[in-house]
Amino acid sequence: MNMKDLNLDMTAFWMPFTNNRQFKSSPRLLVKAEGMHYTSSDNRQILDGTAGLWCVNAGHCRTEIVEAIRQQAGEMDFAPTFQMGHPKAFEAAAKIAEITPQGLDRVFFTNSGSESVDTALKIALAYHRARGEGQRTRLIGRERGYHGVGFGGISVGGISPNRKAYSGQLLPAVDHLPHTLNIKEAAFTKGQPTWGAHLADELERIVTLHDASTIAAVIVEPLAGSTGVLVPPQGYLQKLREICDKHGILLIFDEVITGLGRLGKPFAAQYFGVTPDIITMAKGVNNAAVPMGAVAVKTSVHDTIVDAGNTGAIEFFHGYTYSGHPLAAAAACAALDVYKNDGLFERAAKLAPHFEKSIHGLRDLPNVVDIRNLGMVGGIELSTRDGKPGARAHEIFVKCFEKGALIRYTGDILAFSPPLIISEAQIDELFGIVAQAIRETA
Ligand SMILES: Cc1ncc(COP(=O)(O)O)c(C=O)c1O
Repeated sequence: MNMKDLNLDMTAFWMPFTNNRQFKSSPRLLVKAEGMHYTSSDNRQILDGTAGLWCVNAGHCRTEIVEAIRQQAGEMDFAPTFQMGHPKAFEAAAKIAEITPQGLDRVFFTNSGSESVDTALKIALAYHRARGEGQRTRLIGRERGYHGVGFGGISVGGISPNRKAYSGQLLPAVDHLPHTLNIKEAAFTKGQPTWGAHLADELERIVTLHDASTIAAVIVEPLAGSTGVLVPPQGYLQKLREICDKHGILLIFDEVITGLGRLGKPFAAQYFGVTPDIITMAKGVNNAAVPMGAVAVKTSVHDTIVDAGNTGAIEFFHGYTYSGHPLAAAAACAALDVYKNDGLFERAAKLAPHFEKSIHGLRDLPNVVDIRNLGMVGGIELSTRDGKPGARAHEIFVKCFEKGALIRYTGDILAFSPPLIISEAQIDELFGIVAQAIRETA
């Protein structure tokens, strides 16, 4: 099959986060997937170095997950979860609660990471209101944070191109911590940098400015992915937790990327030994086979909101038509079983040292200014061509695709997050292709 055989009219689909004109003049199409590989429309095998979009942790088209969806689609396509229920949603929530950190065992379903973030922010506001502290409305995010594209998410997020067109209508009561990347201090660190824990103290400055009594929650990605793999400094997240505790502020970890095994534990919270009050997730929650997100909430936060509701009345005025959709829930049950039965999170932890060695092998290549990694996530930062941010990385991304590997890039940072089923030989193959592409790019 090639592009001509497909005979596609590409006009109508306005592609997300894509240079539409550039893409449509020179498209890259994927038509099949299995295990570690995509098949391109010109029938080449493409090694998946990004688990799709940080999401297909168990590899593509895993039989158990495909079968679960097929069976559910034939049995019951849809059932509402507003004042009704169906078994798969409850089963999926219970399975998620089994692997979340202790105490975070109430699960609200959404359909994406963006919806999970907005849901978590609403839960934080509803919680403080239910406790009689409705004036706690301020939300604290972080520079360079990515929390999806809802108005809540872009307000607490810190990526300026995602914010600027909407800047007049972002949430009003928001502040931002500084991000934690410092290439001068920590370039080519393997794992967590020793420099930078003090940046968490900025939260104290923000608390002093606004007063703790006005602040509802702090939201951070424990490891920032989409902005270009920023690994938290040692002790940083612990400090954030301490400061939040001291001031009665909820701590939200956005684990849309780090959740479901990326760092070798179910959640980054367990990897870092820091327990937030709320965890957002999506992507890997059902191996991305059907859109689904979820928010895991501390029982005490859940109970505060639910117990404050009037008898007979809805307690939390929020939800989506597809919250806990039967197909998504069936896929989640199957995916969570695969993760458990195959020991995939443990596998990720075992592969991480080889992944680290392999990616850091690229440090002496032209234009490489930093390499960062943790668990099964890695980033390679390149110097930016004069006045053309992202141009070098885009060229490398296209070359990798032509050579048979799918990678990601943000600005001039290449990002890697392969399915957790990848072999050591495939890790080397991936970084071999990337090395070649970097060498060939001026
Ligand atoms: C940390 C984080 N939060 C939220 C999102 C948004 O997820 P979605 O694209 O499913 O809305 C992403 C997506 O990459 C993410 O990385």
